[in-house]
Amino acid sequence: MIRTRLVGTGRCVPERVKTNDDIARRVDTSDEWIRTRTGIRKRHVLGEHETTSDMAVEAARQACASAGIAPADIECIVLATTTPDMPMPSCAIMTQHKLGIRGPAFDVGAACAGFTYGTTVVDGLIRGGLYRRVLFIGAEALSKFMDWDDRTTCILFGDGAGAVVAVADEQDVPASDPRARGILSSHLDGDGRFWADLNIPAGGTALPPSVETVTEGKHYLRMNGRVIFSQAVRNLSDACEQALRKVELSPDEVELVIPHQANLRIIDAVARRTRIPQDKFVVNLDEYGNTSAASIPIALDEAVRAGRVDEGTLLLHCGLGAGLTWGAVVVRW
Ligand code: COA
Repeated sequence: MIRTRLVGTGRCVPERVKTNDDIARRVDTSDEWIRTRTGIRKRHVLGEHETTSDMAVEAARQACASAGIAPADIECIVLATTTPDMPMPSCAIMTQHKLGIRGPAFDVGAACAGFTYGTTVVDGLIRGGLYRRVLFIGAEALSKFMDWDDRTTCILFGDGAGAVVAVADEQDVPASDPRARGILSSHLDGDGRFWADLNIPAGGTALPPSVETVTEGKHYLRMNGRVIFSQAVRNLSDACEQALRKVELSPDEVELVIPHQANLRIIDAVARRTRIPQDKFVVNLDEYGNTSAASIPIALDEAVRAGRVDEGTLLLHCGLGAGLTWGAVVVRW
């Protein structure tokens, strides 16, 4: 049977940093409030002329280098984002162009669940026998869609990109066998009834950009934080349990969890509900804030480079985003 293995990782965040104090100089908030309610200390934001694909390219180059695969040998690029350089063409094709390579490339849009959804798409492409080497990137620049006068949202998000190289691997053991390596299972879900609780109202076909949409700030991200918070805790915990159950693994066997980095209190609550100890959760939102579809691959790359991931390590990653969309993926490295 073909299984999908992840063999290289990379990441890129912009140089420019916005601290909590920088934000507190503009809106009525404080470093203390942001840290205690979210765990975030700072975030990296793109400069005026930098784009999402600029970060994606750097993360992709690092992932290819660590996989020992030349970008030219990549057969397909999948890129999770809701903040592409422009509405069309895709951020994936812009990234492909900047890498100087050719071949199929497309975006997956599931907001902050983009990396989790995209991993499942890439796994399908590889296990279906379509491609043997896929470059998969999560890249996001929500700072460009922030209302920096809205203290309920602007404290949360940052920009960045993370990438993995996924390859086909022939294996003849079931997923529950400790010798099985790569993506073992995934569980995705979604509930569109919550679309209005987290969205960017204008800029699409419902409200095309106009002088009015800009004047009224409808091109900015809007969120009902409390609703998202409680949905995140419940649905992420549930997705982790479902993904593990599919391959008859128990939470005790998980060695590392890479959660979407939205809020430290959400991560702590998911740890309690899934009964996976907190110290198994990778947390870096203090440094980057919520980088949406990029948060999991950035944290994964940091964990790999810090030596927290070895051959055979059992990983779980989970994400939830606008939609709502959510899911979890079980991987043995
Ligand atoms: N600084 C100071 N006070 C703030 C503030 C800020 N940045 N943002 C909100 N407040 C105020 C509110 O106005 C409210 O005041 P009130 O009680 O006088 O009305 C009070 O703080 C509590 O607001 P509340 O929304 O209940 O805070 P919270 O504890 O839920 O924290 C979030 C707000 C946004 C941090 C939290 O809801 C959250 O993280 N939600 C999930 C968001 C998320 O992860 N989104 C992305 C998903 S991918």
